[in-house]
Amino acid sequence: MAEEKDKKNLLKISGYSSTAIEYILRKVNVGKIEDPDAHAVYTGPCGDTMEIFLVIEPDYKVIKEAKFQAVGCAGALTCGSALTEMIKGKTIEQAEEIDEEDVMNWLGGIPIQKIYCACLAKRTLRNAITEYRNKQN
Ligand code: FES
Repeated sequence: MAEEKDKKNLLKISGYSSTAIEYILRKVNVGKIEDPDAHAVYTGPCGDTMEIFLVIEPDYKVIKEAKFQAVGCAGALTCGSALTEMIKGKTIEQAEEIDEEDVMNWLGGIPIQKIYCACLAKRTLRNAITEYRNKQN
């Protein structure tokens, strides 16, 4: 597939690691969950928007499934994939401790300006967890 190869090259030139590129091309965790336990939509200062869906085990509050959708840049896509991968199997408390630097480190290299995209993913996740807690009370 020539197109995929071109895209890969451009992402590489921009400074995306091979993990980050794979996440974008394979659309890791991109999608929706019907009837999620937690959900949030957040638009960042750049104007890009992310939506996160979580399935949470009710006793220990462990995240069993996570998906996201984003209207945004390559950074939003790879950070959304990374964060949803990182939180599976974690409690909601552990998940909300993850910050943008953790996401960047997990990916092993994305352009430094894309820290804002990692922040978009972090804030969307934190909003989903807040929404979940509010529903419990
Ligand atoms: Fe908006 Fe990447 S520039 S999320």
